[in-house]
Amino acid sequence: MDRLAGKVVFVTGASGAVGTAVAQAVARDGGTAVTSDVRASPSCDHLLDVTAEDDWRRVMAAVSARHGRLDGLVNAAGIVVLGSVEDTDLATFRRVLAVNLDGTFLGCKYAMPLLKKRGGVIVNIASVSGLVGGHNLAAYNASKGGVRLLTKSVALHGARLVPPVRCNSVHPSFLEGPMADAIADSAPDPHKARARMQAAVPLRRLGTPTEVAALCVFLLSDESGFVTGAEFAIDGGLTAG
Ligand SMILES: NC(=O)c1ccc[n+]([C@@H]2O[C@H](COP(=O)([O-])OP(=O)(O)OC[C@H]3O[C@@H](n4cnc5c(N)ncnc54)[C@H](O)[C@@H]3O)[C@@H](O)[C@H]2O)c1
Repeated sequence: MDRLAGKVVFVTGASGAVGTAVAQAVARDGGTAVTSDVRASPSCDHLLDVTAEDDWRRVMAAVSARHGRLDGLVNAAGIVVLGSVEDTDLATFRRVLAVNLDGTFLGCKYAMPLLKKRGGVIVNIASVSGLVGGHNLAAYNASKGGVRLLTKSVALHGARLVPPVRCNSVHPSFLEGPMADAIADSAPDPHKARARMQAAVPLRRLGTPTEVAALCVFLLSDESGFVTGAEFAIDGGLTAG
């Protein structure tokens, strides 16, 4: 498959499960993935804290100098902290908002000058928690709900540009990997917690980062040329009922 041939795609959170899978899928489809994370790893080209404006300026300048173009951005960096509105302190709330929402905003803002040169695509990784609430997800819900509507604003701005920049949000439920493991492990009985996570999904399993990456490739490719401002649940039917 060569659906991203010649395209340069910048990925945040690329030391993590989804970011790694996205970078691999971009390369498999003929594109060049330029990867970043706040945490160094073999799959990370640039150290970038998504909450730091200076990091975005520095790294986007490096991408421009090295590649001279940018066709796609996947904002995959994110953190989850469990807690109800009563349990969550303000510093925690602000930290989750800073990484998940400010980080996505800064990505859209600082990648836009390069993306709009030739037209491009932004994919924001949100969550089912940006579509429906959870009693113990006050900060995460607020951040991912924010990403959902930020995406639509960016899409409407990008649609006015010539050539246009498209922007869509992707909303996974629990995926196999460290984030779901951490949530299960923080429960009194991790085995039961994991079983409950699976049982809640109509398709009776967790999703995989590879499945999310496949959706991202579709959204990054010209096949989705008429798709912008849209939200894509990838959740085994969790939010369908
Ligand atoms: N894994 C799931 O079950 C799941 C479900 C729904 C949505 N999501 C979302 O998918 C995205 C990717 O999650 P994942 O499963 O790959 O988690 P992960 O923990 O494996 O990866 C997240 C990555 O983000 C990086 N990161 C954290 N703070 C950062 C910062 N300030 N700057 C730059 N990078 C930072 C981490 O170092 C990590 O490598 C997140 O936005 C998450 O909210 C994940």
